[in-house]
Amino acid sequence: MIVSISRIGQYVDKEVTVRGWMYNKRGSGKIHFLQLRDGTGMIQAIAVKDQVSDEVFEKGEKLTMESALAVTGTVTKHPKFEDVYELQVKDIEIIYLNTEEYPISKKDHGPDFLLNNRHLWLRSSKQWAIQRVRNTIINATYEYLNNNDFIKIDSPILTPNACEGTTELFEMDYFDEGKAYLSQSGQLYIEAAIYSVGRCFDFGPVFRAEKSKTRRHLTEFWMMDAEAAFVEHEENMKIQEGLVTFIVEKVLEKNLKELEILERDIEPLKKIKPPFIRKTHAEVIKELREMGSDIGENDDLGADDETILTQKYDKPIFVEKYPAEVKAFYMKRDPENPKVALCADLLAPEGYGEVIGGSQREDNYDVLVARIKEHNLPIEAFSWYLDLRKFGSVPHSGFGYGLERLTAWICGAKHIRETIPFPRMISRLTP
Ligand code: 4AD
Ligand code: MG
Repeated sequence: MIVSISRIGQYVDKEVTVRGWMYNKRGSGKIHFLQLRDGTGMIQAIAVKDQVSDEVFEKGEKLTMESALAVTGTVTKHPKFEDVYELQVKDIEIIYLNTEEYPISKKDHGPDFLLNNRHLWLRSSKQWAIQRVRNTIINATYEYLNNNDFIKIDSPILTPNACEGTTELFEMDYFDEGKAYLSQSGQLYIEAAIYSVGRCFDFGPVFRAEKSKTRRHLTEFWMMDAEAAFVEHEENMKIQEGLVTFIVEKVLEKNLKELEILERDIEPLKKIKPPFIRKTHAEVIKELREMGSDIGENDDLGADDETILTQKYDKPIFVEKYPAEVKAFYMKRDPENPKVALCADLLAPEGYGEVIGGSQREDNYDVLVARIKEHNLPIEAFSWYLDLRKFGSVPHSGFGYGLERLTAWICGAKHIRETIPFPRMISRLTP
């Protein structure tokens, strides 16, 4: 019977076949320890010379790193460790024998070499673990949002206008229609959809021609935008707090093995419970200056500011009410202080920084027209968006998370390029 390694514990003392790749091998002339991986997990297969045919033992001898094989044998419990199983080899079928040396060895490689070989690097155990955590985050997001009345609405990728400012747009010619832009965020479209379905979210790739070469920036990344009718600033933050808490809980429930492979200290993750820390932008500026930053009163937070601030805390921090001038045109102003927006960025602790951007949206037609003009945006391209303020306009709010930033934080990865299968950055388009 063919079984996956993740389910092998159900087959103790039974004979099974596992198909996969040889991750590593050690042993002697008398015994081979074959480290197998099949995508669902890793298992050690033990071939003892006296207990298998000469032909099988020779196959074990011949096998090279990352060759493909099927191993048949009896499942046994590891003599020392709980929940660890081994396979006592009876037969080996070589499916593909690599004759060239596998480029990624156990020795240290530089980041450029690894990124050039990303198509192979993905097989390494840490990269495997990161993709598994990423998958849990995606599923947890769907689950939490669906359970809270948000339905998935897919937004377009080809768009006629900017969502987050015009400086970072990827542009192309679009038949006879003029320019098209790759979406920076589906927000504006899911704002339209809330008038149909009440609460919704999208989840897909977005594009930013970011000139920034930092460990937090990609030119293509995955964003989840959520939007809800009748939700105002305070409740918007509550929803984010609930979602992030749920995601971290799910990862701790499903991916302890992966976090161990990643050498991620899970104590800080266990502390991710509501309420999160809340500070206004003004308070944060003061705090940063006390820590030696030269940040100006009306400045957006830079990457370094976010790092030093979030290193101080073990819980996520909402930074609320930024000066409206540094934020997007669609944000509603605070009625108590029109200089600031009813917005919040959520910064992840341990130095990670911004993972979510969100706000209440401007719902008044005339005010929104004025904002679009102030931002020098082409008013015609937004006529459909303005319609939403003409027909049944209601207070509403939403937020968007960057999947790679969330994954990097939860996995403890240094650079977000490791958290997306095939990273796109200003100077990287391959593989
Ligand atoms: O803060 P941002 O720009 O917000 C929006 O796009 C809103 N329209 C979202 C909304 O309200 N629906 O981007 C949202 C998140 C950021 O907090 C960050 O996590 C991630 O997207 N992000 C990036 N991730 C990787 N590379 C980049 N260049 C990113 N830019 C933003
Ligand atoms: Mg932002």
